[in-house]
Amino acid sequence: MAGRSVVVGVGHYLPERIVPNSEFEKTLDTTDEWIRTRSGIERRHFAADDETTSDLATKAAEAALADAGLTADDIDAIVLATSTADLTFPSAATMVQARLGMTKGFAFDVQAVCAGFVFALSNANALILSGQAKRVLVIGAETFSRIMDWTDRSTCVLFGDGAGALVLEAQDGEGTAADRGILATDLNSDGRYKDLLYVDGGVSTQSTGHLRMQGNQVFRHAVEKLTKTAETALSRAGLRCADVDWIVPHQANIRIIQGTAKKMGLPMENVVVTVQDHGNTSAASIPLALSVGKQRGQIKPGDLIVTEAIGGGLAWGAVVLRW
Ligand code: ACO
Repeated sequence: MAGRSVVVGVGHYLPERIVPNSEFEKTLDTTDEWIRTRSGIERRHFAADDETTSDLATKAAEAALADAGLTADDIDAIVLATSTADLTFPSAATMVQARLGMTKGFAFDVQAVCAGFVFALSNANALILSGQAKRVLVIGAETFSRIMDWTDRSTCVLFGDGAGALVLEAQDGEGTAADRGILATDLNSDGRYKDLLYVDGGVSTQSTGHLRMQGNQVFRHAVEKLTKTAETALSRAGLRCADVDWIVPHQANIRIIQGTAKKMGLPMENVVVTVQDHGNTSAASIPLALSVGKQRGQIKPGDLIVTEAIGGGLAWGAVVLRW
């Protein structure tokens, strides 16, 4: 017998306002054609002025709880991945905790930018395996529209807002790769690459700041690091790329997604792709893709999934799980 963290519910929320690429043609020297061919993005959702990250996160959490047939009373912990929390403190996670009416347990945020959901999932798994929680809500939620420089065409066309959530539950497995639940994780970061992707402001520098990215430099790291972390996590579970039913990648750029799948030896038929509809929603993109992938009928119980992400830090990692 072995303890496993099994996904028992999934849900997502996207803000109402949908912004097509053509909107940016009005204010920037860019085209729908450039954005589509270079990134794969066709549209993205932007939060309303009075809508915050914890609002999106709460709606995604409610959808995941409903999908699991559970209530907030059944949850022991909330781990929320975000780089765009409502306030400097308290955490967005505790705001969601209050909004769900959850008066016990604990809640905290994880910040690993676009790799945030993979880091949150790995931490939630550790909480379950160490017996500190039986059921954990793992949320990725972002309002990256709040940190865009709307005059910088090389970044502002790429990002969107949204939230996704999973409910993880402690269950017994056999200790083999045939078990449902999280089978292995791999986390990495290398702070020497800070200048490739960062926000040029923050509390300690007394400003909010805007996202700055050397996109082509990040691109150079992405395919190689994503393939390696996915293969490392798979080998820890005693599995190979050929065993994977679905790659559920961080949705930053269709060319990175295609390049990683190719390097892993898998066709695009085995990849859940949502980047065309959501843009890059940072820590929200993987739980959004898991939820949409299930809704589309792509992801089914028993499927072997590898999620992988890279972002600011650089920070990157992968989680292997059986749905
Ligand atoms: N419209 C038109 N032209 C543009 C635009 C635009 N919106 N943006 C940039 N360009 C121009 C550039 O100015 C450049 O022109 P130049 O050759 O005259 O200098 C040209 O297009 C090529 O620019 P590149 O940056 O080399 O284009 P590239 O093919 O690399 O695509 C992109 C850019 C889409 C940003 C890509 O590099 C990418 O996706 N990078 C990775 C992003 C990523 O994965 N980030 C990590 C996660 S995000 C996070 O952690 C928060």
